[in-house]
Amino acid sequence: MSHAVAQADIPLLSVPSGRLLAAIFDLSPDAIALNRVGDGIFVAVNAGFTLLTGLAPGEAQGRSLAEIGILADRAELRPLVARLQREGALRNLELRLRHRSGAIRTGLLSANVVQLGREALVLSVYRDVTERARAQAEKALLEGQLRQAQKLDALGRLAGGIAHDFNNLVTVIQAAVLDARREPLASPRLRETLSDVEVACGRAAALTRQLTAFGRAPAAGSGAVDPAALIAGLRRHLERVVPAPAALCLEVGGGLPAVAGDPVQIEQVVLNLVQNARDALRGAGRVTLQVAAARAAELPAQARASGQPFVRFTVADDGAGMPPEVQARLFEPFFTTKEPGKGTGLGLATVHGIVQRHRGFISVRSEPGRGSTFDVFLPAFRAALRPIPAGEESPARLTPPPEQGVEP
Ligand SMILES: Nc1ncnc2c1ncn2[C@@H]1O[C@H](COP(=O)(O)OP(=O)(O)OP(=O)(O)O)[C@@H](O)[C@H]1O
Ligand SMILES: [Mg+2]
Repeated sequence: MSHAVAQADIPLLSVPSGRLLAAIFDLSPDAIALNRVGDGIFVAVNAGFTLLTGLAPGEAQGRSLAEIGILADRAELRPLVARLQREGALRNLELRLRHRSGAIRTGLLSANVVQLGREALVLSVYRDVTERARAQAEKALLEGQLRQAQKLDALGRLAGGIAHDFNNLVTVIQAAVLDARREPLASPRLRETLSDVEVACGRAAALTRQLTAFGRAPAAGSGAVDPAALIAGLRRHLERVVPAPAALCLEVGGGLPAVAGDPVQIEQVVLNLVQNARDALRGAGRVTLQVAAARAAELPAQARASGQPFVRFTVADDGAGMPPEVQARLFEPFFTTKEPGKGTGLGLATVHGIVQRHRGFISVRSEPGRGSTFDVFLPAFRAALRPIPAGEESPARLTPPPEQGVEP
């Protein structure tokens, strides 16, 4: 598969012709082609070539490699020819080809200059390794995610443990402050100091709540949660989180499937994402929360592979957006770009932990200056659902019929 290969200085092999060779040529699942050395014109292609490129033999034969344009990157043609001229042979050169449909294939090209009768030809064999390369990339991605998950898990347990003990200390301090404030002889100055301590205790308690949520033991799969009811229950709170002049836009689809999980944790996911979106707005702007049944095309590959239905919670803002270096570290615990005292950097680490415990997926799109979009996909509850009469259960949660054997 080359063109304009000089005949001088090339070690030429002698290939016997015959029926056996013809049969091998036809049978090979690899793409095989013969090109004239002088001008690179295709002399013969096999069925594997047609499968690989979508070009019938009649469409390739009589035309050169440059003409049929199957190289994904045209600029690779010259170095390829030069190398074949220099070395007379190629082995397992990674090369990307374009199928007639536009799909790009990755493969390994081996070629030799051969003498067939009186003619010098380039014999090339191309092995398509697209699927193998894809599987390897997916495996590497999964391994990376697993490592990250294990790290977060260990950190979560550690943080949860510390938070628990720390919270006990905060409670003791709060009780002591309360006692001291009741002291009739306390000076106004002391009272003021005590209020400062109280405020700080409030902040410390809020921080421990975040930490405990982050480190919470797996609790997902605890029931069927109605996403519409969950958002309805959160509505007033969300409106307070996103005050005017910012606009909050809720788009909750009708007839949504229930989600399998813990409503309190799912609320926390939504809240954290909406808070981040608000912080990104710099005052005015729009935060959109959309809940919909996920279409297959929008699912991450792994989710699609599972074949199960998902509900998508999307939080989008038209705020500051994020540069790639921030996007790369988003889910790390304690990663924050906010001023000291403003952010703990645990919001998205918590979100990540919860989504993972729910066997869900999260994806992020963002561009500096153009806002960010967070998509959270949570698996739908598979059982047929029976809503529980109001008052018996939190409004966000529905229970499965008993034969499903899932604890509500
Ligand atoms: N919607 C968003 N737009 C722009 N940047 C974002 C957005 N969401 C998250 N970020 C970036 O990711 C960082 C980490 O977010 P995360 O929620 O984990 O922590 P935080 O918001 O800084 O702190 P906390 O959640 O405790 O208030 C943020 O500091 C911010 O830089
Ligand atoms: Mg946050």
